[in-house]
Amino acid sequence: MLKIREPDISNTSYSKLLRGFIVGAVACSILPLFLLGWVSFLNYSQFSTSTMADYYKNAVVDNRKIVELFLDDRMSDIRVVASTHSFEFLSDSSNLVKILNILNQSVPHFTDIGLINPEGRHVAYVGPYNLSDANYSETSWFKEVQSRGVYISNVLMGFRKIPHFFIAVSRSEGEASWILRATINSEFLSSLMTMARAGKTGEVFLVNREGIYQTSPRLDGLIMGKASLPMNLFKGESGILISDVNAPSNSFSVDLNIPVIYRLRATLAPPHSQQIIAFSRIRATDWFVVAKQDFMEFFGDIDHLNMVILILLHVSILAILIVSSLTARYMIKLIERRDKEAEKLNSQLLRARKLASVGELAAGVAHEINNPLAVILTESMVMRELTADETEISKSFREDLFNSLSQIDGQIQRCAHITQNLLNFSRRISSASEFVNVNAVLGDVVGFVEKKAHSSNVKISLNLQQNLPELKTDRFELEQVFINLINNAIDAHEGIQSGSVNIISRLDVVRNGMVVSVADTGSGISDENLERLFDPFFTTKPPGKGTGLGLSISYSIIKHMGGDISAHSEIGKGSVFSVFFPFPTDEHRYATSVVQDSRKEY
Ligand SMILES: Nc1ncnc2c1ncn2[C@@H]1O[C@H](COP(=O)(O)OP(=O)(O)OP(=O)(O)O)[C@@H](O)[C@H]1O
Ligand SMILES: [Mg+2]
Repeated sequence: MLKIREPDISNTSYSKLLRGFIVGAVACSILPLFLLGWVSFLNYSQFSTSTMADYYKNAVVDNRKIVELFLDDRMSDIRVVASTHSFEFLSDSSNLVKILNILNQSVPHFTDIGLINPEGRHVAYVGPYNLSDANYSETSWFKEVQSRGVYISNVLMGFRKIPHFFIAVSRSEGEASWILRATINSEFLSSLMTMARAGKTGEVFLVNREGIYQTSPRLDGLIMGKASLPMNLFKGESGILISDVNAPSNSFSVDLNIPVIYRLRATLAPPHSQQIIAFSRIRATDWFVVAKQDFMEFFGDIDHLNMVILILLHVSILAILIVSSLTARYMIKLIERRDKEAEKLNSQLLRARKLASVGELAAGVAHEINNPLAVILTESMVMRELTADETEISKSFREDLFNSLSQIDGQIQRCAHITQNLLNFSRRISSASEFVNVNAVLGDVVGFVEKKAHSSNVKISLNLQQNLPELKTDRFELEQVFINLINNAIDAHEGIQSGSVNIISRLDVVRNGMVVSVADTGSGISDENLERLFDPFFTTKPPGKGTGLGLSISYSIIKHMGGDISAHSEIGKGSVFSVFFPFPTDEHRYATSVVQDSRKEY
């Protein structure tokens, strides 16, 4: 025998399926998009930072070369003068004046020039200040120029109160060595240095090792003032730093490729709090060329675009996530609904199989019982005939006997009714097919049950739509269905003082058929019983009162006709049984214009 497996569908398996769908969507679309977005974001950030680092490196190196070239030129000017002229010649101030004029012929770089004897005293001086008596023997630069032969000073104010620096070279003549010293206005250096993409916050300037401005900064600060730079990080010949304006100790050096983490840190820091600083040391001095700019000014536009792309990416990821989870949820709901439908069909199939096997069994039993019943009936008739003419039997005995025989006949009728029911149920009785007027059948059936209704104090009313097409079916079967339904409706009033049963017939244009419903004001049916209503032998009636076959027989008859039966009920209020009969062919299609209602009460 074919086994029908009940589908095992639990809520957990649906939520697992939903999770599976969502994980699949994330793995196949969101994850690659997310990775692609972030990889290109990081790569672009890296690329733009290294471009920026390159730019700053070149900016400081170019400026350094310019300054070095300038200093080399000025140094060689002084060197040439010192090596081509004697101490004696230079001691003559008029000669020194001529030399200064020659040096400043094209550009007046030198402010003054002085000759210093081995003891550190000015022997001759040409310039705007009175430095003739100055003695430098105790100064550090004096000692250094004597030992190294050349010296470039830091920028200082000195006696002049104007920022300047000087170049000093020493020359040995015999045992003694003298020094030629020339002063240059440090603003010359400022005019040499430029940076192409300076923007609002970019500037290039010179500082010495102590962080003292050697040229005037473009923005904050003054020449000779202290620059707020992390000088401890100015190591080696050149380098690039990211400086925290508010906490210079948090600054850090970076290589050409600024790691992305630094880049993000600087990008996410408050505006104007991070600066990029590039430095390069000028040969033979204590000076650094420094190029400095607000980190975000350089990256503002790039980062803005990058951020917009990143935000769009995340928004679209979110949208995909929402749409795919909603779609998945919808699909799961659909599957769940389909599964439930399949489950319902399955249980209907189960019931049909059960009916079939019970029918087989019932038919066999009914058939076997019918024969002995017929014999018993015949025998009781024989007994009645035999005793009818017997004169020796007392009257009272005959009456008692006839009573008993009537009881036997009654019970045999009852048994015959049951076996008839069983045979009907198993459909062993062949059905005829004729055109039947449903309203007429309903009228007849109400006639049959009228008495029973009256004794139960139940009022039956008929609301029949006139001119309904006739059904091609077995009249007897149709009667059986209606008798079952109306009997049940009357029985439902057991223990209730009075009630009513309303029988309605109407056209169902949508489904192309007709509906007969039997509504009662009886006890109602519990949800639990509603599910088992059409099961064979399901009854709530006391033994001897109901076989529990009425509805299952009706069900199989209606299904055989291609129709449908459904029940709605509310405990304490009553029940409605609706039977749908389809019109099998177009010839039954009904012209709604001729519809009339007929109402009748019993
Ligand atoms: N209109 C109704 N109101 C309340 N209960 C009903 C109604 N119709 C059917 N039932 C319930 O359904 C059960 C099964 O009905 P069914 O007609 O199949 O068998 P039965 O009436 O008990 O016995 P039988 O019809 O064979 O004499 C009934 O016992 C009753 O409990
Ligand atoms: Mg019944």
